[in-house]
Amino acid sequence: MSVTIKTPAEIEKMRIAGRLAAEVLDMIGEHIEPGVTTEELDRLCHEFIIKKQKAIPAPLHYRGFPKSICTSVNNQVCHGIPSQKRLKKGDVLNIDITVIKDGYHGDTSKMFTVGPPSVLASRLIDVTQQAMRAGIEAVRPGVTLGDIGYAVQRVVESNKFSVVREYCGHGIGRQFHEEPQVLHYGKPGDGLVLQPGMCFTIEPMVNAGKRFIKLLPDGWTVVTKDRSLSAQWEHTILVTASGHDILTLREEERAQMEAA
Ligand code: MF3
Ligand code: CO
Ligand code: CO
Repeated sequence: MSVTIKTPAEIEKMRIAGRLAAEVLDMIGEHIEPGVTTEELDRLCHEFIIKKQKAIPAPLHYRGFPKSICTSVNNQVCHGIPSQKRLKKGDVLNIDITVIKDGYHGDTSKMFTVGPPSVLASRLIDVTQQAMRAGIEAVRPGVTLGDIGYAVQRVVESNKFSVVREYCGHGIGRQFHEEPQVLHYGKPGDGLVLQPGMCFTIEPMVNAGKRFIKLLPDGWTVVTKDRSLSAQWEHTILVTASGHDILTLREEERAQMEAA
């Protein structure tokens, strides 16, 4: 299937799905503390999505994924499977939430810290968020996917970190992963020209060390090859006539962006 242009009615459903995904991240924050297992976090999100939101956690059984959220800790890049392992002081983790509401997907992730993070972890988390935001800021009709990738890559590499190449953002809508692929590196002017009504994610994975990764034997968990820390942030974006809307924006970010 090629890139879909969402109708106004579909955009309304995308806004709702996006808001719900953001609200799961808001809910889970206060539960992140030393001693909690990622499986317990999965359970809390699962119940919240099903019971409170009357929505569906998209990862559960997606291509055989066994849980309702992804939790990627420290050197895990993405697609970490919630487990009985306990979080400890100094850990950093990404929680990635995708919900389906009324047939449409909302996909978003953020970094959390368990107690105070190291100076390096804190810088990696901040640079990765800045990189995602630079990619988002580039989005408006007429620019290309290459312009987005270039904007993300520039922030990461000017801070001496590296962009993971094997995973990328994606179109989103009725399907979890639609066309196009949204690379987090590239050249200005390259690739697809953006049009109003397109929806896709921007979700850079950034390593403190080299960009290389490996897949663990569980078939899902992606880790850094050199065991360095990795961070990721993700939003679902709509291309509008005048620029873009962030469909998964949280209240805390609205405040930060107005202050900036
Ligand atoms: N939420 C991830 C993304 O941003 C995909 C997770 S697939 C899963 O695209 F199966 F691991 F859940
Ligand atoms: Co995604
Ligand atoms: Co995601």
